[in-house]
Amino acid sequence: MKRLFTLAACAAILSGLASSCCNNAEAPKSAIDVIMSRYSVRSYTGEKVSEEQLETLLRAGMAAPSGMNQQPWRFVVVDDPAVMDAMTPWGADTWKAAGTVIVVCGKTTMGEKNDENPLWQADCAAVTENILLAAKAIGLGAVWNASYPFFHPQTQAALGLPEDIIPFSVIPVGIENGAEEPKDKWDPEKIHKNRW
Ligand SMILES: Cc1cc2nc3c(=O)[nH]c(=O)nc-3n(C[C@H](O)[C@H](O)[C@H](O)COP(=O)(O)O)c2cc1C
Repeated sequence: MKRLFTLAACAAILSGLASSCCNNAEAPKSAIDVIMSRYSVRSYTGEKVSEEQLETLLRAGMAAPSGMNQQPWRFVVVDDPAVMDAMTPWGADTWKAAGTVIVVCGKTTMGEKNDENPLWQADCAAVTENILLAAKAIGLGAVWNASYPFFHPQTQAALGLPEDIIPFSVIPVGIENGAEEPKDKWDPEKIHKNRW
């Protein structure tokens, strides 16, 4: 019995050691771990993400908070390199290397009168961050690429989007090559209390 307990204790210690010395590509554990260990990934192995992983990312995106709960987000998943090339004037090398991109789009109008939704960009930013964090949490690499306000008309045309659906960000998702690391951005001088 004592020997069994010792063996179990050794196994627990070894598994703890294995998880504490994880490389950057491994899935972290807690929400704070995920946030603090996320970084932009621009180098990929070329192995594609699975449909199940994609659904996890899209579900995380749609779980974002939403101004007036309009949920103006729409998504286009692109894995066709020719479509990727057509989406940007700046070259789609990173996107093609990742294999798949999620284009986060926003519906700019709302209600029966098609009033402007002034919060569609804020909502799409929340969606984008949710997807980046979810990617990290399941061991995938991803990076926020701006479409709006730079080349969104070209992306909109390449994807055949309706007039009031604007591509906000393009998120390549894939298996990272493991060359990158989180940056330490903590700066207490940027924090003010009560008044500037
Ligand atoms: C609004 C926004 C737009 C961005 N656009 C791009 C982009 O077009 N291309 C790119 O490579 N990275 C882009 N990034 C990623 C930033 O370069 C990156 O977040 C920043 O350098 C900090 O590095 P980190 O994400 O590893 O912490 C963008 C990030 C944000 C928040």
